[in-house]
Amino acid sequence: MGYQIKVVLVFALLSFFGIFIYFSINESGSEAFRSKTEERPSELFGPSVELHNPFIITRLRNELMHLPSENGYQLSQSDHLYDPSMGQSKAILKALDYKTRGFFIECGALDGETRSNTLYMERSLNWSGILIEGDPKNFELLKKKNRRAHSFPVCLSPFPYPEILLFEQQFNIGKITDTAKSNTVQVECYPLSYILLAVNQTSIDYFSLDVEGNELKVLKNVPWDNVDIKTLSVEFVHDKEGKVAIKEYMESVGYDLIDEISRDDMLANDFIFLKR
Ligand SMILES: *[C@@H]1O[C@H](CO)[C@@H](O)[C@H](O)[C@H]1NC(C)=O
Ligand SMILES: *[C@@H]1O[C@H](CO)[C@@H](O)[C@H](O)[C@H]1NC(C)=O
Repeated sequence: MGYQIKVVLVFALLSFFGIFIYFSINESGSEAFRSKTEERPSELFGPSVELHNPFIITRLRNELMHLPSENGYQLSQSDHLYDPSMGQSKAILKALDYKTRGFFIECGALDGETRSNTLYMERSLNWSGILIEGDPKNFELLKKKNRRAHSFPVCLSPFPYPEILLFEQQFNIGKITDTAKSNTVQVECYPLSYILLAVNQTSIDYFSLDVEGNELKVLKNVPWDNVDIKTLSVEFVHDKEGKVAIKEYMESVGYDLIDEISRDDMLANDFIFLKR
């Protein structure tokens, strides 16, 4: 090999390593930045997120959504006609003339069986739907029931954008909270419209909403003009703004209050709404 060619080769090698090292440093620089903001990347959560950002919808669908189970139910109540709902499902089905093959949304879905408002519809009336449960412990229990519905381990956002919020884990009375305690976990929360886009469904027969206090805020972030929700049951006892505020808000977006389910043991305190 000629001397000049050797010099050129050495130069080429040195330049190559120089570029390689430059990019390695830059890469680790951006990695460090990323890990610092990993808890709450601002492009995915918070007020500056672009509405219905397609990347977020795709991420919801591919990384957070669980498909309906194709295995048999694993329920503690094997009776096919058993309805664990505390009266909400009866009132809804009456309003819907005992519809079969409907579509539901249930939030919080708890373990998918205990006092479920939608299990009977799914199991006995061939409905499909979406189960939303923010408490990771409850979601684990829910997954084991093999419900034939899409399910999401998230909560419904009380804001018009996705957010990571603290969730107090307490089985049936868990909820979003401001204060970190030993039983709080961070949970991703999405407005209902994001979940509906992830499953590509805008026509809903029944929305069961029981989130221990944020009901009105969740309802205020439903895009009523773009989704068709025929009936709802909404728990009203824990909402700070009070039951009258829920009733008035729902009437203002086109619903009639047709029933109220209350039990002395407090296991049901729900309004039943029907779209006008
Ligand atoms: C539900 O679907 C099954 C299977 O297609 C069918 O045999 C059954 O009659 C349906 N039940 C109702 C209530 O429509
Ligand atoms: C979503 O649903 C609509 C109406 O049913 C359908 O036309 C469209 O192809 C669906 N899109 C996807 C991505 O599944």
